[in-house]
Amino acid sequence: MKGTQSKTIVLTGIKPTGQIHVGNYLGTIRPALELASTHHAYFFIADYHGLTTVRDPEKLSRFIDETVATWLALGLDPEHVVFYRQSAVPEIFELMWILACTAAKGLLNRAHAYKAQVAANLGAGRDADADINIGLFNYPLLMAADILAFQADMVPVGRDQQQHVEIARDVAAAFNRLFGPVFKLPQALIRETVQTITGLDGRKMSKTYGNEIPLLADSDTLKRIVLRIVTDSRRPEDPKDPEQCNVFALYRHFADEGDIDRLRERYLAGGVAYQTVKKMLADLLIDRFAVARRRYKNLIADRTKLRQILDEGASAARDTAQKTLAGVRQAVGIDPMYDQ
Ligand code: TRP
Repeated sequence: MKGTQSKTIVLTGIKPTGQIHVGNYLGTIRPALELASTHHAYFFIADYHGLTTVRDPEKLSRFIDETVATWLALGLDPEHVVFYRQSAVPEIFELMWILACTAAKGLLNRAHAYKAQVAANLGAGRDADADINIGLFNYPLLMAADILAFQADMVPVGRDQQQHVEIARDVAAAFNRLFGPVFKLPQALIRETVQTITGLDGRKMSKTYGNEIPLLADSDTLKRIVLRIVTDSRRPEDPKDPEQCNVFALYRHFADEGDIDRLRERYLAGGVAYQTVKKMLADLLIDRFAVARRRYKNLIADRTKLRQILDEGASAARDTAQKTLAGVRQAVGIDPMYDQ
């Protein structure tokens, strides 16, 4: 929603690198859509972040459309949210360069995605930077530009993105110290109750680990995947610890209080098979997203329309980003664009 400067601005993005999964929904989409009803919201497809890992142009393009269709199916209303793709806003990339000139390299050395790859390389006896592209290294800087170009206050993200938002904040503060108070300092918004969402194998749900549960897959696929959730070897009759169970951890995000309590009791008492609980979880997901799944099918059938929706959002997004960039250029001593 365009409008006055005083209202709090919520911004978030998802990179199109695969099907949207339960972790994306709980960490980002659900909180973002809730905030969108009461705030100015900018939601976007981080397509150039996707390019750091996706090497197949057709796939990237399909992932973009699937991500758009998922947001819309889950209730994003493009009349109320500025919805765009990052690549349609060149100001973001201009800002990234400006920020690169004032951001400390050490800040990016400490970013966990980069650090993890360096550690993996060293562990395997390879050169520290083997197979690491500059895009991966600069990933947090592009994310900082995404956020700062819109003067976002609040950034709803999953716990795994918290460090990136903190980097954006540090980058903004460093710039402000040098050139004056140009940027607002953004804050990550992380649901305390959500924390880290575990995937099929109990590690953080992530496309990187291939352990994700796709949110809007058809029911058979969803059932098949949910049955693969790793559990311990307790037999149906054994009492079980709900707090240690990956299936229960997911169930509690979607079920209502009463059902959660009842299932907890059954775990503690013994007599419930993991297989049974997995089926309950699958049914819950199928039921809960039945409407969204139907809408998704219709939306994804018209990819041209999806692109149109994004293009409409892009012009509103550029208006805002251009205003920010005008201030940034002035602050550093670069003339404004002549066509503005
Ligand atoms: N890095 C985020 C992810 O992997 C996506 C993203 C890119 C983002 N730019 C952003 C999220 C800006 C919030 C704000 O999910």
